[in-house]
Amino acid sequence: MRVALFVIVAHVYCAATNPIVGLFDPACFVVRGDCPNKNITFWLYSNETRDSPVLLNPLDLNPWDFQPPRPLKILIHGYTGYRDFAPSSTIRPALLDHEDVYVISIDYGPLVRDPCYVQAVQNVPLVSKCLAQFIDNLLDRGIIQSDQLHIIGFSLGGQVAGQTANYVKRKLQRITGLDPAKPLFILGSNKRRLDPSDADFVDVIHTDVLGRGMLRTMGHADFYPNFGPAQPGCLEENPNDPGSCNHDRAPRFYAESIYSKKGFWGRKCANWFVHVLGLCPGDAAEALMGYHVPLDVRGAYFLKTGSKSPYALGHAPKTNNSKFLSQLSLDSKQNEIDRDYEPQLHRTLLKLRPFEDDVLDEKLENLSL
Ligand SMILES: *[C@@H]1O[C@H](CO)[C@@H](O)[C@H](O)[C@H]1NC(C)=O
Ligand SMILES: *[C@@H]1O[C@H](CO)[C@@H](O)[C@H](O)[C@H]1NC(C)=O
Ligand SMILES: *[C@@H]1O[C@H](CO)[C@@H](O)[C@H](O)[C@H]1NC(C)=O
Repeated sequence: MRVALFVIVAHVYCAATNPIVGLFDPACFVVRGDCPNKNITFWLYSNETRDSPVLLNPLDLNPWDFQPPRPLKILIHGYTGYRDFAPSSTIRPALLDHEDVYVISIDYGPLVRDPCYVQAVQNVPLVSKCLAQFIDNLLDRGIIQSDQLHIIGFSLGGQVAGQTANYVKRKLQRITGLDPAKPLFILGSNKRRLDPSDADFVDVIHTDVLGRGMLRTMGHADFYPNFGPAQPGCLEENPNDPGSCNHDRAPRFYAESIYSKKGFWGRKCANWFVHVLGLCPGDAAEALMGYHVPLDVRGAYFLKTGSKSPYALGHAPKTNNSKFLSQLSLDSKQNEIDRDYEPQLHRTLLKLRPFEDDVLDEKLENLSL
């Protein structure tokens, strides 16, 4: 009976990723076959070639394109994306302006066109296989060392990064997931999803946890700006589809984290649900989110941001969360798939109960339902 008391959470805006639309559209297709695939292309950018990227041939890589040696960042777009779309639109210029690196923006746009979400998800394994082939060729030829390689995927691209780990010859060292896609990734095994086994260090930023992005933790370090369901400024910025704006904040925050002097500092908490209940210690350990996250950070972190650029607010103030109890209400009618909430919530609740009963009782008394 307690379960019913958690009348959670927020308005969910998801119209644009309704996976059912397009299911029978003849323009939607699933590709099979081998790598390389002409609809999956790799574009190399450096500070010198930022306006005239080199289209790479995955089977015939030229070491001179990667001289002098520099770390390599691979950016992967999501559904409806292409090489100049998020995350490349914000993160690539930030990297090239501030870091001495190479950037590769993948483009698999033809395989993830609107309204073909279901087919896009079915195309993810092929895209991942072709990215793995490309990475293997770079490493086999000694063009890049594996500790110099960092993969950054946004939305569906976050899941591409996770699945790429299924195909590469050597374990990847670093993956960043920017609000990895939720629709059609909730069920099934971790092989389909980004998870901590995919690289030596996986960090994740969650910005649309009740819509397009995942609520559950998926990495060694998971960051929840504004605790994830609604990003400040998004209602004003995109009143018709604030969820899309929430989702897009992840690459924006990441881009800013590359050069931000203030930094996005999060405070540790056991998990999202404990945070919503206001049971997180307001003086727990802090960690820096984003590009400069230390590789030994572990756990879930929560932070606030500004409502427009620059978003970073610096160190997290010590807080007293007790009145932060959710006034939110989950409107399942607006949700894209009624079943599309995450089972982890219930497990968290069950875990809390045996040893937190007193605290819960107190919280529940304060709840005005
Ligand atoms: C990029 O090139 C410009 C000159 O074209 C230079 O001023 C700048 O320092 C370079 N940036 C990096 C990160 O190397
Ligand atoms: C590439 O995409 C086009 C649609 O843009 C499709 O017709 C074609 O079959 C695809 N080819 C491959 C090899 O994926
Ligand atoms: C936290 O805030 C509540 C009221 O919002 C107050 O009753 C409580 O004493 C505060 N706790 C601390 C440690 O400041």
